[in-house]
Amino acid sequence: MPPLPFPDGGAGWPDLQARMRDMSAGDADWRGGRVPLFVFLNEPETYEIGRKAFFEYFSENALGRKRAFHGIGRMEEEVLGYGLSLFSAPEGAAGAFSSGGSESIFMAMKAARDAWRAQHGKGREVALNIVMPISGHPAFDKAAAAMDLEIRRAPLTPDRRVDVAALGALCDGQTMAIVGSAPCFPHGVIDPIEALSDLAVERGLWLHVDACVGGWLAPFFARVGRGTPAFDFRFPGVRSISADLHKFGFCPKPASTVFYRDGADMERALFRADAWTGGAFATATLGGTRPAGAVAAAWAVLNHLGTAGYEDAARRLGAMVDAYTAGLRGIAGVRLWAEPDFTIINFGAEDADIFAVAKGMQARGWLPGLTREPKGLHAMLSMFHEPAREAYLADLADALAEVRAGADAGGVTAQY
Ligand SMILES: Cc1ncc(COP(=O)(O)O)c(C=O)c1O
Repeated sequence: MPPLPFPDGGAGWPDLQARMRDMSAGDADWRGGRVPLFVFLNEPETYEIGRKAFFEYFSENALGRKRAFHGIGRMEEEVLGYGLSLFSAPEGAAGAFSSGGSESIFMAMKAARDAWRAQHGKGREVALNIVMPISGHPAFDKAAAAMDLEIRRAPLTPDRRVDVAALGALCDGQTMAIVGSAPCFPHGVIDPIEALSDLAVERGLWLHVDACVGGWLAPFFARVGRGTPAFDFRFPGVRSISADLHKFGFCPKPASTVFYRDGADMERALFRADAWTGGAFATATLGGTRPAGAVAAAWAVLNHLGTAGYEDAARRLGAMVDAYTAGLRGIAGVRLWAEPDFTIINFGAEDADIFAVAKGMQARGWLPGLTREPKGLHAMLSMFHEPAREAYLADLADALAEVRAGADAGGVTAQY
Protein backbone atom coordinates (compact mmCIF):
# COMPACT_ATOMS: atom_id res chain seq x y z
CA MET A 1 0.00 0.00 0.00
CA PRO A 2 2.07 3.01 -1.20
CA PRO A 3 1.68 6.47 0.38
CA LEU A 4 -0.27 8.85 -1.86
CA PRO A 5 -0.19 12.63 -2.14
CA PHE A 6 -3.00 14.01 0.00
CA PRO A 7 -5.91 15.09 -2.27
CA ASP A 8 -6.01 18.77 -3.29
CA GLY A 9 -9.76 18.64 -2.64
CA GLY A 10 -12.52 20.53 -4.35
CA ALA A 11 -13.93 17.58 -6.31
CA GLY A 12 -17.68 17.88 -6.85
CA TRP A 13 -20.21 15.06 -6.66
CA PRO A 14 -20.54 14.30 -10.40
CA ASP A 15 -16.78 13.95 -10.66
CA LEU A 16 -16.51 11.89 -7.46
CA GLN A 17 -19.37 9.63 -8.49
CA ALA A 18 -17.88 9.07 -11.92
CA ARG A 19 -14.51 8.20 -10.41
CA MET A 20 -16.05 5.84 -7.87
CA ARG A 21 -18.06 4.08 -10.54
CA ASP A 22 -14.97 3.84 -12.64
CA MET A 23 -13.06 2.18 -9.79
CA SER A 24 -15.86 -0.35 -9.36
CA ALA A 25 -16.34 -1.04 -13.08
CA GLY A 26 -14.61 -4.40 -12.82
CA ASP A 27 -16.55 -5.56 -9.73
CA ALA A 28 -18.25 -8.93 -9.57
CA ASP A 29 -21.86 -8.79 -10.76
CA TRP A 30 -23.84 -9.48 -7.55
CA ARG A 31 -27.04 -7.99 -8.98
CA GLY A 32 -26.93 -10.60 -11.72
CA GLY A 33 -26.68 -13.41 -9.13
CA ARG A 34 -23.02 -14.10 -9.89
CA VAL A 35 -21.70 -13.56 -6.35
CA PRO A 36 -22.42 -16.43 -3.94
CA LEU A 37 -21.94 -14.51 -0.66
CA PHE A 38 -21.47 -10.97 0.72
CA VAL A 39 -24.85 -9.56 -0.38
CA PHE A 40 -28.30 -10.72 0.80
CA LEU A 41 -31.40 -9.32 -0.77
CA ASN A 42 -35.09 -9.88 -0.59
CA GLU A 43 -37.26 -8.10 -3.17
CA PRO A 44 -36.65 -4.49 -4.36
CA GLU A 45 -39.25 -2.88 -2.08
CA THR A 46 -37.51 -4.18 1.06
CA TYR A 47 -34.19 -2.94 -0.31
CA GLU A 48 -35.65 0.55 -0.90
CA ILE A 49 -37.24 0.74 2.54
CA GLY A 50 -33.96 -0.26 4.19
CA ARG A 51 -32.07 2.29 2.13
CA LYS A 52 -34.50 5.14 2.85
CA ALA A 53 -34.66 4.42 6.58
CA PHE A 54 -30.87 4.22 6.74
CA PHE A 55 -30.43 7.65 5.17
CA GLU A 56 -33.21 9.16 7.29
CA TYR A 57 -30.79 8.69 10.23
CA PHE A 58 -27.55 9.00 8.31
CA SER A 59 -25.97 11.52 10.72
CA GLU A 60 -27.24 10.35 14.10
CA ASN A 61 -25.14 8.13 16.33
CA ALA A 62 -26.62 5.10 18.06
CA LEU A 63 -24.11 5.58 20.88
CA GLY A 64 -26.31 8.51 21.89
CA ARG A 65 -29.53 6.50 21.86
CA LYS A 66 -30.22 7.04 25.56
CA ARG A 67 -29.17 10.67 25.92
CA ALA A 68 -29.88 12.34 22.59
CA PHE A 69 -31.55 10.14 19.97
CA HIS A 70 -34.50 8.69 21.80
CA GLY A 71 -36.22 7.58 18.62
CA ILE A 72 -33.23 5.43 17.71
CA GLY A 73 -33.17 4.13 21.28
CA ARG A 74 -36.78 3.10 20.97
CA MET A 75 -36.27 1.49 17.55
CA GLU A 76 -33.32 -0.48 18.89
CA GLU A 77 -35.33 -1.69 21.91
CA GLU A 78 -38.13 -2.77 19.60
CA VAL A 79 -35.80 -4.66 17.23
CA LEU A 80 -34.25 -6.45 20.21
CA GLY A 81 -37.70 -7.16 21.58
CA TYR A 82 -38.75 -8.76 18.28
CA GLY A 83 -35.63 -10.96 18.46
CA LEU A 84 -36.34 -12.00 22.03
CA SER A 85 -39.78 -13.24 21.06
CA LEU A 86 -38.56 -14.85 17.81
CA PHE A 87 -36.04 -16.87 19.84
CA SER A 88 -38.50 -17.73 22.65
CA ALA A 89 -36.39 -15.97 25.25
CA PRO A 90 -37.54 -16.33 28.86
CA GLU A 91 -38.34 -13.39 31.08
CA GLY A 92 -35.23 -11.51 32.13
CA ALA A 93 -33.40 -12.12 28.84
CA ALA A 94 -31.61 -9.24 27.15
CA GLY A 95 -29.91 -8.37 23.89
CA ALA A 96 -27.68 -5.87 22.14
CA PHE A 97 -27.48 -4.47 18.62
CA SER A 98 -24.01 -4.80 17.09
CA SER A 99 -22.17 -4.20 13.85
CA GLY A 100 -22.01 -7.81 12.68
CA GLY A 101 -21.65 -11.45 13.51
CA SER A 102 -18.04 -11.14 14.58
CA GLU A 103 -18.86 -8.45 17.12
CA SER A 104 -21.91 -10.34 18.44
CA ILE A 105 -19.77 -13.44 18.88
CA PHE A 106 -17.02 -11.45 20.57
CA MET A 107 -19.47 -9.99 23.07
CA ALA A 108 -21.04 -13.37 23.87
CA MET A 109 -17.60 -14.91 24.41
CA LYS A 110 -16.60 -12.04 26.69
CA ALA A 111 -19.76 -12.59 28.72
CA ALA A 112 -19.08 -16.36 28.86
CA ARG A 113 -15.51 -15.80 29.97
CA ASP A 114 -16.51 -13.40 32.72
CA ALA A 115 -19.34 -15.70 33.81
CA TRP A 116 -16.88 -18.60 34.14
CA ARG A 117 -14.50 -16.45 36.15
CA ALA A 118 -17.29 -15.23 38.42
CA GLN A 119 -18.63 -18.74 38.96
CA HIS A 120 -15.22 -20.21 39.75
CA GLY A 121 -13.84 -17.25 41.64
CA LYS A 122 -10.79 -17.25 39.35
CA GLY A 123 -9.18 -14.63 37.17
CA ARG A 124 -6.80 -14.37 34.26
CA GLU A 125 -4.38 -16.89 35.79
CA VAL A 126 -6.59 -19.72 34.43
CA ALA A 127 -6.30 -20.49 30.69
CA LEU A 128 -9.82 -21.04 29.36
CA ASN A 129 -11.03 -22.78 26.21
CA ILE A 130 -13.96 -22.75 23.82
CA VAL A 131 -15.00 -26.08 22.30
CA MET A 132 -16.70 -25.80 18.92
CA PRO A 133 -17.31 -27.65 15.65
CA ILE A 134 -14.59 -27.71 13.01
CA SER A 135 -17.19 -26.02 10.78
CA GLY A 136 -17.69 -23.03 13.12
CA HIS A 137 -16.86 -19.53 11.96
CA PRO A 138 -13.38 -17.95 12.47
CA ALA A 139 -15.03 -15.09 14.38
CA PHE A 140 -14.51 -17.34 17.43
CA ASP A 141 -10.78 -17.58 16.63
CA LYS A 142 -10.69 -13.79 16.52
CA ALA A 143 -12.41 -13.48 19.88
CA ALA A 144 -10.07 -16.13 21.28
CA ALA A 145 -7.00 -14.36 19.93
CA ALA A 146 -8.13 -11.06 21.44
CA MET A 147 -9.02 -12.57 24.84
CA ASP A 148 -6.21 -15.10 25.00
CA LEU A 149 -8.46 -18.18 24.91
CA GLU A 150 -7.85 -21.58 23.39
CA ILE A 151 -10.10 -22.93 20.63
CA ARG A 152 -10.68 -26.68 20.44
CA ARG A 153 -12.43 -27.94 17.34
CA ALA A 154 -14.58 -31.07 17.26
CA PRO A 155 -15.11 -33.26 14.16
CA LEU A 156 -18.38 -33.73 12.29
CA THR A 157 -20.59 -36.75 11.71
CA PRO A 158 -21.15 -37.81 8.06
CA ASP A 159 -24.14 -35.45 7.75
CA ARG A 160 -21.66 -32.61 8.51
CA ARG A 161 -23.20 -31.75 11.88
CA VAL A 162 -20.95 -31.63 14.88
CA ASP A 163 -20.25 -34.93 16.62
CA VAL A 164 -21.63 -34.07 20.06
CA ALA A 165 -19.87 -36.95 21.84
CA ALA A 166 -16.53 -35.91 20.34
CA LEU A 167 -17.20 -32.29 21.29
CA GLY A 168 -18.04 -33.37 24.85
CA ALA A 169 -14.78 -35.31 25.04
CA LEU A 170 -12.82 -32.15 24.28
CA CYS A 171 -14.37 -30.25 27.19
CA ASP A 172 -12.66 -30.04 30.56
CA GLY A 173 -12.77 -27.99 33.75
CA GLN A 174 -11.47 -24.94 31.89
CA THR A 175 -14.09 -24.94 29.12
CA MET A 176 -15.87 -21.61 29.31
CA ALA A 177 -18.21 -22.18 26.33
CA ILE A 178 -19.34 -24.69 23.76
CA VAL A 179 -20.74 -23.65 20.39
CA GLY A 180 -23.20 -24.89 17.77
CA SER A 181 -24.05 -23.17 14.47
CA ALA A 182 -27.48 -22.57 12.98
CA PRO A 183 -26.46 -23.14 10.29
CA CYS A 184 -22.70 -23.39 9.84
CA PHE A 185 -21.29 -21.39 6.96
CA PRO A 186 -19.41 -24.17 5.08
CA HIS A 187 -22.10 -26.87 4.88
CA GLY A 188 -25.36 -25.07 5.60
CA VAL A 189 -26.57 -27.53 8.24
CA ILE A 190 -27.79 -26.80 11.74
CA ASP A 191 -25.78 -28.53 14.46
CA PRO A 192 -27.73 -30.76 16.90
CA ILE A 193 -28.57 -27.92 19.27
CA GLU A 194 -30.85 -30.04 21.45
CA ALA A 195 -28.06 -32.55 22.13
CA LEU A 196 -25.57 -29.73 22.70
CA SER A 197 -28.04 -28.17 25.12
CA ASP A 198 -28.31 -31.48 27.02
CA LEU A 199 -24.52 -31.62 27.21
CA ALA A 200 -24.39 -28.01 28.42
CA VAL A 201 -26.97 -28.64 31.14
CA GLU A 202 -25.34 -31.90 32.25
CA ARG A 203 -21.83 -30.42 32.45
CA GLY A 204 -22.76 -26.89 33.51
CA LEU A 205 -21.37 -25.33 30.29
CA TRP A 206 -22.33 -22.14 28.48
CA LEU A 207 -23.80 -23.02 25.05
CA HIS A 208 -23.62 -20.28 22.45
CA VAL A 209 -25.66 -20.74 19.26
CA ASP A 210 -24.11 -18.99 16.30
CA ALA A 211 -27.22 -18.20 14.27
CA CYS A 212 -25.50 -15.32 12.47
CA VAL A 213 -26.55 -16.72 9.10
CA GLY A 214 -29.92 -18.28 9.86
CA GLY A 215 -31.14 -16.47 12.96
CA TRP A 216 -33.69 -14.05 11.63
CA LEU A 217 -35.06 -16.29 8.84
CA ALA A 218 -34.61 -19.97 9.77
CA PRO A 219 -37.50 -19.84 12.31
CA PHE A 220 -39.75 -18.89 9.39
CA PHE A 221 -38.42 -21.81 7.34
CA ALA A 222 -39.70 -23.98 10.18
CA ARG A 223 -43.04 -22.16 10.27
CA VAL A 224 -43.68 -22.73 6.56
CA GLY A 225 -43.20 -26.44 7.07
CA ARG A 226 -39.66 -27.10 5.86
CA GLY A 227 -38.76 -29.12 8.95
CA THR A 228 -35.91 -26.75 9.85
CA PRO A 229 -34.67 -27.71 13.32
CA ALA A 230 -35.13 -25.35 16.28
CA PHE A 231 -32.03 -23.80 17.82
CA ASP A 232 -33.18 -21.19 20.30
CA PHE A 233 -33.81 -20.54 24.01
CA ARG A 234 -36.46 -23.28 24.12
CA PHE A 235 -33.45 -25.53 24.77
CA PRO A 236 -32.45 -24.83 28.37
CA GLY A 237 -28.69 -25.07 27.78
CA VAL A 238 -28.70 -22.26 25.20
CA ARG A 239 -27.29 -19.29 27.06
CA SER A 240 -26.57 -16.88 24.20
CA ILE A 241 -27.44 -16.51 20.51
CA SER A 242 -25.86 -14.37 17.80
CA ALA A 243 -28.11 -13.53 14.83
CA ASP A 244 -27.26 -11.14 12.01
CA LEU A 245 -29.86 -8.78 10.64
CA HIS A 246 -27.60 -7.92 7.72
CA LYS A 247 -27.63 -11.45 6.32
CA PHE A 248 -30.99 -13.22 6.06
CA GLY A 249 -32.82 -10.53 8.02
CA PHE A 250 -32.42 -8.59 4.73
CA CYS A 251 -31.42 -5.41 6.61
CA PRO A 252 -28.67 -3.01 5.49
CA LYS A 253 -25.18 -3.53 6.90
CA PRO A 254 -23.85 -3.21 9.56
CA ALA A 255 -26.46 -4.91 11.74
CA SER A 256 -26.42 -7.89 14.02
CA THR A 257 -27.89 -8.89 17.36
CA VAL A 258 -26.71 -10.88 20.34
CA PHE A 259 -29.09 -12.25 22.95
CA TYR A 260 -28.52 -13.57 26.47
CA ARG A 261 -30.89 -15.90 28.33
CA ASP A 262 -30.17 -13.94 31.47
CA GLY A 263 -29.85 -10.15 31.64
CA ALA A 264 -27.01 -10.63 34.15
CA ASP A 265 -24.96 -12.20 31.37
CA MET A 266 -25.47 -9.15 29.21
CA GLU A 267 -24.05 -7.09 32.09
CA ARG A 268 -20.95 -9.28 31.83
CA ALA A 269 -20.63 -8.44 28.16
CA LEU A 270 -20.59 -4.74 28.96
CA PHE A 271 -17.39 -2.76 28.80
CA ARG A 272 -17.23 -0.36 31.70
CA ALA A 273 -14.55 2.25 32.10
CA ASP A 274 -14.28 4.86 34.76
CA ALA A 275 -10.55 5.50 35.03
CA TRP A 276 -10.27 8.43 32.68
CA THR A 277 -11.04 12.08 32.95
CA GLY A 278 -14.23 11.85 30.93
CA GLY A 279 -16.48 10.08 33.46
CA ALA A 280 -18.24 6.70 33.64
CA PHE A 281 -18.51 4.98 30.28
CA ALA A 282 -20.26 1.70 29.40
CA THR A 283 -21.22 0.03 26.11
CA ALA A 284 -22.75 -3.37 25.40
CA THR A 285 -20.75 -3.61 22.18
CA LEU A 286 -17.15 -3.34 21.09
CA GLY A 287 -17.93 -0.26 19.06
CA GLY A 288 -18.57 3.14 20.59
CA THR A 289 -19.96 5.30 17.79
CA ARG A 290 -22.50 3.24 15.84
CA PRO A 291 -24.52 4.04 12.71
CA ALA A 292 -28.03 5.01 13.78
CA GLY A 293 -29.05 4.40 10.17
CA ALA A 294 -28.47 0.66 10.60
CA VAL A 295 -30.79 0.59 13.62
CA ALA A 296 -33.50 2.59 11.85
CA ALA A 297 -33.19 0.45 8.72
CA ALA A 298 -33.49 -2.79 10.69
CA TRP A 299 -36.56 -1.48 12.48
CA ALA A 300 -38.13 -0.41 9.19
CA VAL A 301 -37.34 -3.66 7.35
CA LEU A 302 -38.66 -5.80 10.21
CA ASN A 303 -41.87 -3.80 10.34
CA HIS A 304 -42.21 -3.83 6.58
CA LEU A 305 -41.69 -7.57 6.16
CA GLY A 306 -43.13 -8.83 9.45
CA THR A 307 -44.27 -12.40 9.85
CA ALA A 308 -45.98 -12.55 6.45
CA GLY A 309 -42.95 -11.12 4.64
CA TYR A 310 -40.42 -13.45 6.26
CA GLU A 311 -42.70 -16.44 5.72
CA ASP A 312 -43.02 -15.48 2.10
CA ALA A 313 -39.23 -15.10 1.81
CA ALA A 314 -38.79 -18.50 3.46
CA ARG A 315 -41.20 -20.13 1.00
CA ARG A 316 -39.53 -18.54 -2.02
CA LEU A 317 -35.97 -19.15 -0.88
CA GLY A 318 -36.85 -22.70 0.11
CA ALA A 319 -38.28 -23.37 -3.33
CA MET A 320 -35.16 -21.88 -4.90
CA VAL A 321 -32.85 -24.07 -2.82
CA ASP A 322 -34.92 -27.09 -3.93
CA ALA A 323 -34.62 -26.01 -7.57
CA TYR A 324 -30.85 -25.50 -7.30
CA THR A 325 -30.29 -28.84 -5.56
CA ALA A 326 -32.52 -30.64 -8.10
CA GLY A 327 -30.49 -29.02 -10.89
CA LEU A 328 -27.22 -30.05 -9.27
CA ARG A 329 -28.42 -33.62 -8.81
CA GLY A 330 -29.30 -33.61 -12.51
CA ILE A 331 -25.64 -33.08 -13.48
CA ALA A 332 -23.90 -36.45 -13.58
CA GLY A 333 -21.10 -36.78 -11.04
CA VAL A 334 -22.06 -33.74 -8.95
CA ARG A 335 -22.36 -34.57 -5.29
CA LEU A 336 -23.99 -32.39 -2.64
CA TRP A 337 -21.86 -32.48 0.49
CA ALA A 338 -24.85 -31.99 2.79
CA GLU A 339 -28.63 -31.77 2.68
CA PRO A 340 -29.20 -28.02 3.16
CA ASP A 341 -31.18 -27.00 6.25
CA PHE A 342 -31.31 -23.44 5.00
CA THR A 343 -30.11 -21.51 1.94
CA ILE A 344 -26.50 -22.71 1.73
CA ILE A 345 -25.47 -25.24 -0.90
CA ASN A 346 -22.09 -26.92 -1.14
CA PHE A 347 -21.08 -29.59 -3.61
CA GLY A 348 -18.17 -31.37 -5.23
CA ALA A 349 -17.70 -33.71 -8.17
CA GLU A 350 -16.95 -37.41 -7.98
CA ASP A 351 -14.52 -37.51 -10.90
CA ALA A 352 -13.16 -33.97 -11.18
CA ASP A 353 -11.29 -31.44 -9.07
CA ILE A 354 -14.01 -28.99 -8.06
CA PHE A 355 -11.46 -26.19 -7.66
CA ALA A 356 -10.56 -26.64 -11.33
CA VAL A 357 -14.30 -26.47 -12.11
CA ALA A 358 -14.40 -23.28 -10.01
CA LYS A 359 -11.73 -21.83 -12.26
CA GLY A 360 -13.92 -22.60 -15.25
CA MET A 361 -16.87 -20.92 -13.51
CA GLN A 362 -14.72 -17.88 -12.84
CA ALA A 363 -13.80 -17.73 -16.52
CA ARG A 364 -17.55 -17.73 -17.25
CA GLY A 365 -18.12 -14.69 -15.01
CA TRP A 366 -19.16 -16.38 -11.73
CA LEU A 367 -17.38 -15.57 -8.50
CA PRO A 368 -16.78 -19.02 -7.01
CA GLY A 369 -17.39 -19.61 -3.30
CA LEU A 370 -15.05 -22.31 -2.06
CA THR A 371 -14.70 -24.60 0.92
CA ARG A 372 -11.70 -26.72 1.74
CA GLU A 373 -12.79 -29.80 3.64
CA PRO A 374 -14.24 -31.37 1.59
CA LYS A 375 -13.26 -29.33 -1.45
CA GLY A 376 -16.53 -27.75 -2.49
CA LEU A 377 -18.27 -25.06 -4.48
CA HIS A 378 -20.36 -23.07 -2.05
CA ALA A 379 -23.20 -20.55 -2.29
CA MET A 380 -25.48 -18.71 0.12
CA LEU A 381 -28.54 -18.30 -2.03
CA SER A 382 -30.49 -15.08 -1.86
CA MET A 383 -33.39 -13.86 -4.00
CA PHE A 384 -31.28 -12.51 -6.85
CA HIS A 385 -29.83 -15.98 -7.48
CA GLU A 386 -33.14 -17.27 -8.83
CA PRO A 387 -33.00 -15.58 -12.28
CA ALA A 388 -29.38 -16.80 -12.61
CA ARG A 389 -30.14 -20.45 -11.80
CA GLU A 390 -30.42 -21.94 -15.27
CA ALA A 391 -27.35 -20.10 -16.56
CA TYR A 392 -25.40 -21.17 -13.47
CA LEU A 393 -26.31 -24.84 -13.87
CA ALA A 394 -25.58 -24.79 -17.61
CA ASP A 395 -22.18 -23.16 -17.08
CA LEU A 396 -21.42 -25.60 -14.29
CA ALA A 397 -22.15 -28.57 -16.56
CA ASP A 398 -19.89 -27.01 -19.23
CA ALA A 399 -17.07 -26.21 -16.81
CA LEU A 400 -17.24 -29.74 -15.42
CA ALA A 401 -17.14 -31.29 -18.88
CA GLU A 402 -14.15 -29.11 -19.71
CA VAL A 403 -12.25 -30.31 -16.64
CA ARG A 404 -13.12 -33.93 -17.42
CA ALA A 405 -11.80 -33.35 -20.93
CA GLY A 406 -8.46 -32.31 -19.42
CA ALA A 407 -8.64 -28.53 -19.03
CA ASP A 408 -5.82 -26.98 -17.06
CA ALA A 409 -6.28 -27.84 -13.38
CA GLY A 410 -4.96 -25.75 -10.54
CA GLY A 411 -8.13 -24.05 -9.42
CA VAL A 412 -8.70 -20.84 -7.56
CA THR A 413 -8.43 -19.95 -3.90
CA ALA A 414 -10.73 -17.93 -1.69
CA GLN A 415 -9.47 -14.64 -0.34
CA TYR A 416 -11.18 -11.90 1.61
C1 LIG B 1 -21.89 -18.74 10.69
C2 LIG B 1 -21.28 -17.37 10.71
N1 LIG B 1 -20.99 -16.79 11.89
C3 LIG B 1 -20.45 -15.57 11.98
C4 LIG B 1 -20.15 -14.84 10.84
C5 LIG B 1 -19.48 -13.49 10.96
O1 LIG B 1 -20.34 -12.48 10.57
P1 LIG B 1 -19.81 -11.03 10.11
O2 LIG B 1 -19.11 -11.22 8.81
O3 LIG B 1 -21.07 -10.23 10.03
O4 LIG B 1 -18.89 -10.52 11.17
C6 LIG B 1 -20.44 -15.39 9.58
C7 LIG B 1 -20.16 -14.66 8.35
O5 LIG B 1 -20.38 -15.14 7.26
C8 LIG B 1 -21.02 -16.70 9.52
O6 LIG B 1 -21.28 -17.28 8.34
